[in-house]
Amino acid sequence: ALDDAKLPNLNKAQSTSTGSETISRKDFPADFKFGCATSALQTEGSGTEGGRGPAIWDKYIQDGTPGIKIAVDSYHRYKDVQLLKAIGVDTYRFSMSWSRILPGGTIDAGINQEGIDFYNNFINELISNGITPFVTLFHFDLPTALSTKYNGFLSIDIVDDFKAYADLCFKTFGDRVKYWATINEPQVWGEYGFTNTDPNANAATDPFLSTHHVLLAHAAAAKLYKNTYQASQGGEIGIPLVVEWFEPFEDTMPDKAAARRAFDFLVGWLVEPLVYGDYPFIMKALVKDGLPEFTDEQKELVKGSFDYIGVNYYTSRFAAPIAIVDGEEITSFDQYQHVNITVDGPDGEPIGPATPGSSEIYVYPEGLKKALILLKEYGNPKFYITENGYPDKRDDTIPLSTALIDDARIHHIRDHLTAIKEAMNTGTNVKGYLMWALLDCMELGSGYQVRFGLNYTDYLNNLNRTAKKSAGWLKTFLASK
Ligand code: NOJ
Repeated sequence: ALDDAKLPNLNKAQSTSTGSETISRKDFPADFKFGCATSALQTEGSGTEGGRGPAIWDKYIQDGTPGIKIAVDSYHRYKDVQLLKAIGVDTYRFSMSWSRILPGGTIDAGINQEGIDFYNNFINELISNGITPFVTLFHFDLPTALSTKYNGFLSIDIVDDFKAYADLCFKTFGDRVKYWATINEPQVWGEYGFTNTDPNANAATDPFLSTHHVLLAHAAAAKLYKNTYQASQGGEIGIPLVVEWFEPFEDTMPDKAAARRAFDFLVGWLVEPLVYGDYPFIMKALVKDGLPEFTDEQKELVKGSFDYIGVNYYTSRFAAPIAIVDGEEITSFDQYQHVNITVDGPDGEPIGPATPGSSEIYVYPEGLKKALILLKEYGNPKFYITENGYPDKRDDTIPLSTALIDDARIHHIRDHLTAIKEAMNTGTNVKGYLMWALLDCMELGSGYQVRFGLNYTDYLNNLNRTAKKSAGWLKTFLASK
């Protein structure tokens, strides 16, 4: 059973030093945003309540774990806003559930007023508590109706539906929402609805096609916002990307080129169209016909379709080249880049400390700094770190009092803030840092077995939230103005 005899509260936690506090709030400009992030699918629950229509991945809201049928029930817990207030962050990035607003995915299929009311109330609650809403329009939870109709993003027809949904949100919430994110992590193409067909059917080229449409959908919505709403509403719009850094496996030219190739295939894939209107040269050269071509009109649409680039940064890996073999059949997305990406370097060690909750995340703050400094070269864009976080493993045998002591997460935040600051010292225009996550919540691949939160969620009993030591650390950090 959880031992709640020794709950550290925020005040107790904040008096606990972690040792070398080298970075402080004063190192960042006064208008730099500090916030927390989550998404609807991972927190709201109430998949069928309030008129919401079904979305892909709903099955993850209900995993086999006893007692969990409602994600972390945020739909009913407006008081989660108090968790933000207690930490003292100024911004909350959350997402709207497309199928809560449009249960059938389209305006024609009907607008769900209860869904609109829910988000109106939530936005008002944030604002009346002094928290700035930072809204993601679409974070993996594609309405099932559209997924069925279009086979995810494989049909270009979805672009107009996303634009119409975005239009409704700008019109309805834009008087109060000044920070918009269109589509979360386009590179995670597997999450965008490859659910109706054999995922291996066109495994090699479907990701390129799907992401092409994601880019067009993003751009259509972003340009609509910039052309129609921005002057009167005065907000900004951008897109949160998966950003990883790749270190050359060994310090050789071929390995350095491979590392750059891996970066271009993951990040350049989106950033070059957004900034220059076309895919990276290396992708065109290697993927050839498998990579869709932008028409001139699409190039114009995509180019410059952002006010900021969102950086979701968790980890880095090593890269070394794989030779091109003549006539070799390409059956997977990854094969095109001719890079061997590994967790372990030449000494057999990973790039940084492993994390308890994910076999894919190794802590490497240096990678964030290097990625930001490279991305600055794309015309010095504005960045928000839209996600960064540390996964612990859920272990119900640990007493609560112990589970709340998350020193590794504190070091993680501190070291990533230091890396950001160092990138800013070279002129990189970073305007905010949003921690994933405000609270332990559902994680797509691993259900409720991973804890990313600054607040602990009691999965065994009542989903109550309790501040972890990291929340207290952040509070102290933010107060040190
Ligand atoms: C990125 C995704 O946006 C979010 O949904 C996920 O929970 C975190 N990374 C952690 O894996």
